[in-house]
Amino acid sequence: MTRTGARARIEELRQEIRRHEHLYYVAAKPEISDYAFDQLMAELRRLEEAHPALVSPDSPTQRVGGAPLDALRQVRHTTPMLSLDNSYNEGELEEWLGRVRRVLGRDPAGMVAELKIDGVSLSLTYESGVLVRAVTRGNGEIGDEVTENARTIRSLPLALPERPPSVEVRGEAYLPHAVFRELNRARREEGEEAFANPRNAAAGSIRLLDPRECGRRRLAFFAYQVPRWEGTGFACHSEILERLAAWGFAVNPGWRRCRSLSEVRTFIGEWGGRRARLGFDIDGVVVKVDDLEEQRALGTTSKFPRWAVAYKYPPEGERTRVRGIVVQVGRTGALTPVAELEPVFLAGSTVSRATLHNADEVTRLDVRVGDRVWIAKGGDVIPKVVAVDPSARSADFEAFRMPDRCPVCSTPVVREPGEVVVRCPNRRCPAVQKQRLFHFVSRAGMDIEGLGRRFVEQLLLEGLLEDPASLWDLDVERLAALPQWGEKSAVNLIEQVSAARTRPLWRLLVALGIRHVGEKAAKVLAARFGSLEALEMATAEELEQAEGIGPTISASVVAFFAEDEGRELVRRLRHRGVDPRQEPQAPDPAQRPLSGLTFVLTGALSRPREKVAGLLEEAGAHAAESVSRRTTFLVAGADAGSKLNKARELGVEVLDEEELKALLAKKGVAW
Ligand code: IVH
Repeated sequence: MTRTGARARIEELRQEIRRHEHLYYVAAKPEISDYAFDQLMAELRRLEEAHPALVSPDSPTQRVGGAPLDALRQVRHTTPMLSLDNSYNEGELEEWLGRVRRVLGRDPAGMVAELKIDGVSLSLTYESGVLVRAVTRGNGEIGDEVTENARTIRSLPLALPERPPSVEVRGEAYLPHAVFRELNRARREEGEEAFANPRNAAAGSIRLLDPRECGRRRLAFFAYQVPRWEGTGFACHSEILERLAAWGFAVNPGWRRCRSLSEVRTFIGEWGGRRARLGFDIDGVVVKVDDLEEQRALGTTSKFPRWAVAYKYPPEGERTRVRGIVVQVGRTGALTPVAELEPVFLAGSTVSRATLHNADEVTRLDVRVGDRVWIAKGGDVIPKVVAVDPSARSADFEAFRMPDRCPVCSTPVVREPGEVVVRCPNRRCPAVQKQRLFHFVSRAGMDIEGLGRRFVEQLLLEGLLEDPASLWDLDVERLAALPQWGEKSAVNLIEQVSAARTRPLWRLLVALGIRHVGEKAAKVLAARFGSLEALEMATAEELEQAEGIGPTISASVVAFFAEDEGRELVRRLRHRGVDPRQEPQAPDPAQRPLSGLTFVLTGALSRPREKVAGLLEEAGAHAAESVSRRTTFLVAGADAGSKLNKARELGVEVLDEEELKALLAKKGVAW
């Protein structure tokens, strides 16, 4: 192809890809399959590789390009990023409108009501229509430059269709619930601490030093402001929102022009009712004076614009009382404060404990023993304390402090710079060892049936267990002699433990509890390296040749085998005949029987949904959280609900469990 031909085709592909990105990520109305989209991207990539001079920063291939940074650069905002004055009831909203009237000498010509997204604000600068800089709010005056990370957010355009000399767009980066759920699930599986809520996860993700990792977090963005522009113009805020949408941004869904406070109230009521079903967190509604001249006349205080106010919804969930705060030690030594609650029925179950996540979260909430609190099931359905009722606080409730020493072994705790988590560094801490054993035998790990937490605790107390390898030192006689045991259960357990010697290699890798190595990474590593020895000898570079293994995982694997403890455990396991092997396989995902198919699972199936998703993914399929036009099949178990309706609406093919099994059998995939 000639250079001119290539240039034309590249431009055509870019426009086509941008259109599909917009249809998929902003309008949620995709027109083509993932496969067809990938083909367009692949063609563009090939052409750009052949003509590197034609690569431009606004090309869709450049969403993830940047190398990891050593540190984020600090940037001063051209106009400060203010925050919003809060109101909590209609009286306070009226007071705000009263102040607006006093300054203007009349009612504002109109107002706009929009959702207050609970994420992190970002300021984006477009020069000649191209995204050149993204900066976090920081302290409002100075923020962190996160341009490479912002580029990975598919719901913001890298280039504007009009090319105004300079505009600044502000908005909120956030994590949809489905993405948050999946992120926390994967983090727990990999021995990482879960994020307290989608906002914390968004804040952590946008400041990552590695843009690729940020891209994997799948942040989304709603644009809500254009504080500065050149070469274009606006008369009112609603016009800005319309133009932002025309430029390809996702804007706040359902924003509405309101002429009176009573229309604002209707908006607040309507969206309050839909809040739990939105799929992302909002904490209120923002009311803005629409006319930009009026906004200018109103101006700002040192902290807030006078032309806008936030109406905060009351906290979601149920009220109960904190009876105590205990600190648990996890398998990585992480200390987690947990609130013990007066039991309360919440969204389908009785809740008597709620995680407080970490010291920062306790400080933010300022939860104290004795407090009345609201608890709600967060985006990942785990009960959390969402707010404290200050009116029910008595002066003698003491502020909670994270302990300086591990509550189990008394070793002074450590907090690494930049980390929110406090850890017990003692690898021999009984709590850490116990949790590691729980994990080793669990369904996610070696899957040793009949060895629940209670028995592991008993065996530890009796001094019969020490580390995972000591499981294979157990004998029938000693077990049978234990209280509540007998010959039969002892023989059963020994058989189970013995059979676990031949578990697949990936299970052992997960069970070892190497940080960042969950099921997915373990399967890839097992398939590529085939044995513990091969993994032990592998360098970081060699590990990274495997699909999906990046520097974080490779460093963690190398560190595990470099430390005496990891090496010694592997040696002890091997000595007891635990040394699973697997024929290394050539990675060839395209050859897998279900590649190119997207499944969504809903309702109750005869096996846990994660297991079914796992086997589908292993066979090359994509298992998605939500139904879209790109879904090939919805697998509906008993009591399927909204996803089934959505699939019917979109005309997505629905399979029941039997039909799924038949499909798998046809494709040669074991159920
Ligand atoms: S307008 C001068 N609109 O809420 C500030 N802010 O509590 C103008 N936020 O820092 C902001 N949704 O990060 C605006 N629809 C929305 C918003 C929104 C969320 C955030 C924003 C701001 C914070 C203030």
